[in-house]
Amino acid sequence: MTHASAARRRPEPLLAPSLLASDLANLQATAELLATAEADWLHFDVMDGRFVPNISFGLPVLEALRPHARQPIDVHLMIEQPQHYLAQFREAGASNITVHYEACPHLHRVVEQIRGLGCTAGVALNPATPVSLLQDIVADLDVVLLMAVNPGFGGQAFIPHTLHKVAVLKELLLDCGSDALIEVDGGVSAANASALVQAGADVLVAGSFVFRGGAGGPVATLAALRAQLREGTTELT
Ligand code: DX5
Ligand code: ZN
Repeated sequence: MTHASAARRRPEPLLAPSLLASDLANLQATAELLATAEADWLHFDVMDGRFVPNISFGLPVLEALRPHARQPIDVHLMIEQPQHYLAQFREAGASNITVHYEACPHLHRVVEQIRGLGCTAGVALNPATPVSLLQDIVADLDVVLLMAVNPGFGGQAFIPHTLHKVAVLKELLLDCGSDALIEVDGGVSAANASALVQAGADVLVAGSFVFRGGAGGPVATLAALRAQLREGTTELT
């Protein structure tokens, strides 16, 4: 190993546990537990029963959670017409706001609105939406979220084609000179995390794996995932 290669390591991926899979009667306790865990962002899934066939939680719950959360809150809006609620989500405590490409005919305006509020802006793609559709917006994004399941429910099986999408998106970001982070959401676990990072993922969202993964609990599961990813971290030359 040369000095030059030792000095430059690939940045570590961010881990974002999805609170949807946690004990929703005890969000304060979960936020406190995660405060010192290997959790970089807290992923907060908002579902409206229209864009997706499920209803989760929204503004008042985010507001209640915020004072107890140590990490930035990554709000994933699986809702129609998100433009009407952006300021309120900012006010309630969102750091990053991600909207769905499929829900926004005026996506550029929505992204500008989010950034204008002082949040970072993400755009999510459903599994069947190609990454090429983001070509004219990626330079303006902070995050691109690739859904690895059809949105609406935790605990679904990872769609393997997502690995290919991550690689294609990585190329697109390089071509367009975009610094956007690649976030993968849905069915993420120890079984696919290393491959996702290898393909180019920067942020891994995990719900069921972290909160319902086993006897060790969320803190131990996140620590093990972090250790696994560190082992796989390769030096850049
Ligand atoms: C699904 C949500 C995900 C979900 C992930 O629509 O966007 O964030 O909570 O849960 P798991 O990791 O269980 O697939
Ligand atoms: Zn999500």
